[in-house]
Amino acid sequence: MDLSRFPYLQGNYAPVAEECDWTHDQLRIEGRVPDTLKGAFLRNGPNPAYEPNHYVYPLDGDGMVHGVYFDGGRVHYRNRWVHTPALKAERRAGRRIYGSIGRPLPVPGEIVRDGGDPSPYKNTANTNILQHGGHLLALWEGGWPHELTPALDTVGPYSAGGLLKPGDNLSAHPKVCPDTGEMITCSQPFDRPLYIVQVFDRAGRHVRSIEAALPWKGIIHDLQITRNHVVIFCAPVVTNPALLMQGKFPMQWREDLPMKIGVIPRAGGAARWFEAEPFFSWHFCNGFEDGSRIVIDYVWIAKLPFAMEMGTGVESQPRRLYRLTLDTATGEIRNECVDELFCEFTRVDDRRCGQRYRYGYAAASTMAKQSEYHGYNATARFDLDTGEVVLHDYGEDANAGEPVFVPHGESETDGYVMAFVTAEGKSSLVVLDAAQPAADPVARIHIPTRVPNGFHANWAEGLSPPA
Ligand SMILES: [Fe+2]
Repeated sequence: MDLSRFPYLQGNYAPVAEECDWTHDQLRIEGRVPDTLKGAFLRNGPNPAYEPNHYVYPLDGDGMVHGVYFDGGRVHYRNRWVHTPALKAERRAGRRIYGSIGRPLPVPGEIVRDGGDPSPYKNTANTNILQHGGHLLALWEGGWPHELTPALDTVGPYSAGGLLKPGDNLSAHPKVCPDTGEMITCSQPFDRPLYIVQVFDRAGRHVRSIEAALPWKGIIHDLQITRNHVVIFCAPVVTNPALLMQGKFPMQWREDLPMKIGVIPRAGGAARWFEAEPFFSWHFCNGFEDGSRIVIDYVWIAKLPFAMEMGTGVESQPRRLYRLTLDTATGEIRNECVDELFCEFTRVDDRRCGQRYRYGYAAASTMAKQSEYHGYNATARFDLDTGEVVLHDYGEDANAGEPVFVPHGESETDGYVMAFVTAEGKSSLVVLDAAQPAADPVARIHIPTRVPNGFHANWAEGLSPPA
């Protein structure tokens, strides 16, 4: 593959070619693997199997899941592509068939008859991986989820119990309510400004759809739950599917539009909309209710990162943790920077999702040349009560992925914070103590093969290691 023309396939963004297994005895381990954990740290991300015709980060690239299984102090690493119908069709043909989100290609009839995905937009299944209701799902916001086995073999496209019809989608950013066990996510029809909250019960059964008309069709990537609401940001980005059909970038940043904040009752009912000064955001950290106020912590970006436009350039706008406080009684909004640190991929102890909390975690950049390079080389812990930020810096040239909190006790600091880190081409899973993230890692599990930069990770409780 010649990947030299793709900025987001360089360095540790470059894909790996093999699916591997490394057993405990083949892994070099520094420190002590926690022996009370049973489950797996799983992370999804793009890993194109064939040289792309074009590459739009963060949407293109076949999903590959990297997992480290923990069981009684022993670990096992495995990585597997999500073997989508589109990727399987390309494997059978031995070449790339599908185009990019920015430059889709018509899919030949024989590929469709052979079981390939008929859509010109390849469902790459590359964005997130989540276990809920007995299903392990690889998620991509433009199409159906794909179900995986605990061993990361692909079962196939997942219709969510018949809810999803051909052409439907389900968000890559579900939230799981720690009180009810519900998974709350959304569908967004491709061709009209409509947002459909989808609620699944603890057992994974679909129980409710709540429709909210959007002010315009844009990019709504993440959602945040609070005890009673779903909160979404509808930024001043307007998409025009007709432009996409002409092979043009379909999104436009509109200086004349505000940020619209949607507040949708989880129990059902009409959405309320509030207006703020424009900004863009990919990811929430957490949110909670405080009387009539809703507090939302999120990663602020000044504008939609257009550097990804048509696959050219590297995105370099600052990204910072902000706190937005919305008084639903008066409509008053305060939107404040929590800290100047450059960060992304914000997470919390998921047992506090939608509730009052103290600590947030993020992948962060300590590097001086942040404006020229947007890699993350540290794990940050934000104390939202005191403003203190604690950093674990992996070194200037390191790449640090999304951190995930894995509990071992009741409090917000009784846990581990895990992230994949790659430095000088060598990858490891780093296990930090949430109570003292700057200290030497509890464990560092060195993986003989590289783990490319990716997107979202989660802990899958109870998942058994491959036999
Ligand atoms: Fe995301």
